[in-house]
Amino acid sequence: MSFKNIIYEKKDNIAIITINRPHVLNALNRDTLLEMLSALTDVEKDPNIRALVITGAGDKAFCAGADVKEFKDKPLVELLEFMELGHKVCTMIENLSKPVIAAVNGYALGGGLELAIACDFIIASTNAKLGQPEINLGIMPGWGATQRLVRLIGLRKAKELILLGEMISAEEALQIGLVNKVVPLERLKDEAFKLAKKLIEKSPIALKFAKHAINAALKTTLPEGLDYERMSFIALYSSEDAQEGIKAFLEKRKPVWKGR
Ligand code: COA
Repeated sequence: MSFKNIIYEKKDNIAIITINRPHVLNALNRDTLLEMLSALTDVEKDPNIRALVITGAGDKAFCAGADVKEFKDKPLVELLEFMELGHKVCTMIENLSKPVIAAVNGYALGGGLELAIACDFIIASTNAKLGQPEINLGIMPGWGATQRLVRLIGLRKAKELILLGEMISAEEALQIGLVNKVVPLERLKDEAFKLAKKLIEKSPIALKFAKHAINAALKTTLPEGLDYERMSFIALYSSEDAQEGIKAFLEKRKPVWKGR
């Protein structure tokens, strides 16, 4: 698999996608999104890959959003296709059966922040700046922020970010629950890997079921979500991993996961 706009690597059961367009602060154009889709498809299919880290090349930006230069002259039909593509990438990350960590190494703006919030965890470097600046361009977020951000940090803070279009620091992002952890830039990759390594110690099938059940909370009423949780619990309980986990606990030993 060869890519021009991303670097796709695999190391110790962990995949890494690095958006590699530092000359435009890793802004996302159509080709980059298509490459991401293809890498994400591989992450989903490869049974040896158990977690994914997404980051940006360089030390200035995770991703400064959709590539404004590319979309500015697009006819509306193509623009719609571009918006759909962005949604597709974010939704694929959200629904991936494996945990996804965004390692935010600088600016995460517009579509860049939308990409990060579709991930299961965000670790940000102390120099990171996060925001939805679209309003300053006379436009609005189009890759999920009006929906996912509200669910993540609540209506009030989401309105503040989207309607004011101001950037916030990594520390502020931590305070409002937008990111999980803030670390110095030089430790960011190690911290993302440390987290990924903790996650791959768990049963992959339990992670998948738990992630999907949590995501269901965003789409359902509470009674529907609880139904989904119960059914997920029962389905997961019949897996070999669930039986092994319980047996290992009672035998006071480490479980050996099979992922089924
Ligand atoms: N799309 C396309 N190119 C972008 C970009 C984007 N979203 N964000 C940055 N770039 C490009 C700049 O045009 C510049 O290219 P140039 O050297 O050919 O002019 C290069 O990346 C470096 O950016 P620059 O603005 O010079 O860096 P800076 O340090 O002065 O400012 C930002 C950094 C992030 C504050 C600024 O680039 C910015 O506001 N970017 C747009 C963010 C945005 O509005 N995103 C949502 C888009 S819908």
